[in-house]
Amino acid sequence: MGWKDIYQSKLVTAQEAVKAIRDGDKVVTGFGCGEPFGIERELINNYEKYHDVEIINMLTLGDSPWCREEMKGHFTLNCLFASPSNRKAISTGISEFTTSHFYEIPEVIKTYLRPRVSIVMVSPPDEHGYVSFGTTVDYTRGTAEYCEVVIAQVNKYMPRTFGNSIMHVRDFTYFVECDEKLPEVKGVEISDTEMKIGKYCASLINDGDCLQLGIGGIPNAVCAQLWDKKDLGIHSELVGDGVVDLLEAGIINNKKKQTNRYRTVLGAAFGSEKLNNYINNNPSVELHPIDYVNNPIEIAKNDNVVSINSCLQVDLLGQVVSDTVGLNQFSAVGGQVDFVRGATMSKGGRSIIAMPSTAKKGLISRIVPIITEGSAVTTPRNDVNFVVTEYGIAQLKGKSLKERAKALILISHPKFRPHLVIEYIKRFNEEPFSKHELREQFVGVKEQIEERRQQIREDLRKKLPGNDEKSTV
Ligand code: COA
Repeated sequence: MGWKDIYQSKLVTAQEAVKAIRDGDKVVTGFGCGEPFGIERELINNYEKYHDVEIINMLTLGDSPWCREEMKGHFTLNCLFASPSNRKAISTGISEFTTSHFYEIPEVIKTYLRPRVSIVMVSPPDEHGYVSFGTTVDYTRGTAEYCEVVIAQVNKYMPRTFGNSIMHVRDFTYFVECDEKLPEVKGVEISDTEMKIGKYCASLINDGDCLQLGIGGIPNAVCAQLWDKKDLGIHSELVGDGVVDLLEAGIINNKKKQTNRYRTVLGAAFGSEKLNNYINNNPSVELHPIDYVNNPIEIAKNDNVVSINSCLQVDLLGQVVSDTVGLNQFSAVGGQVDFVRGATMSKGGRSIIAMPSTAKKGLISRIVPIITEGSAVTTPRNDVNFVVTEYGIAQLKGKSLKERAKALILISHPKFRPHLVIEYIKRFNEEPFSKHELREQFVGVKEQIEERRQQIREDLRKKLPGNDEKSTV
């Protein structure tokens, strides 16, 4: 049979295709911009017919119907990256969360989670009978190869990408044709704070560097500061729209890379039509499975790798919390540690953790004496090197505990420095800064420290026996 006959013989409706799913099955589905909603909808609309089916998925853009109350006993989401759509379900036990470095996820799924069914979204077949996993190769292609049953939504909007992103029609069980626009990650407006952070990050980037950038305000702000650079490369688990203009202008040309030279290497594309149009049929962009893209050994084969990732909290020792807020799962480690380690191992490489100095509209400091109880350390202190906020750059490797703490205090928001200084004194039993340094670095802050000290003395005085308000009345 020629590939066209094979394809036709496997072409069914979504209703027909999902009959292959049995009670008790584990089903791994494509995520992000490549989530096969055309097939998932069929399961969701008929959820009562299914029992104890586990859906394994990294990240859904938008609503996650698997987390609805009525799904209980029918479908359970086992999520690999928490998001607004499932955070509550994870914290209340409705959904499961599995933690893993991104480069290990394909192996973790195959060895430990062991799904029987894979549901993916692909482009229509080319003239040789190959479909492309388009925006979403990461764990999706590798686990599709592993599963007994592979159902593909064939969508004309899915870009056809190069790299290790194709599979022949003979390797699928069913095809369901369903054309619908892909979920999008729209560009966000870059704030002034993010712009300042972007500037500091860009000051650590040299011509010819090979970059890993995530998505969101900070990576976009970094991209906005790269217009005076040349010969940059990209080897990144994912990118958003932010890189497209730089690629089109030739600022990113991948010329200096040691592996996949002249090629942008990604595990997934996480943007809007702008990015999808750019990667479609573009041989200069390669999507590869994540166990290749994010493998620290592969990352380090390129020289001068610069990784830029964000976080929620850093303590004074340099421990980085990026995926939990106390006991609540906020996101996941993703490829943060993969790239921090890959960049560190790369000849001339640098890893950057970049974040605004505060959170919750400026009410709390992200630089803290001790991480919030219940939070998990995402990137250990021994891995962390550059930490960037809108107040500057703290370089941590090779620094003593005291030096680390001082460097971090100096990039914290000035309004939280007095508190951090006091915590420093409590921990190390000495003043962190000389009078001269205080004058230089903390214009106006010395007074704040003194004020805070007075306040603590006052609080302590009130707590002393006989000094409470009642006894003084
Ligand atoms: N305590 C409590 N809340 C905090 C907080 C803290 N320490 N830090 C941030 N928040 C809040 C923010 O205020 C914000 O809430 P709000 O919108 O109500 O103000 C919310 O959490 C999100 O913070 P923000 O910094 O804007 O998040 P982000 O969208 O920039 O994502 C990470 C930052 C760290 C969550 C994200 O980059 C991530 O998940 N990283 C780990 C994975 C990774 O690095 N992968 C590799 C690259 S893709």
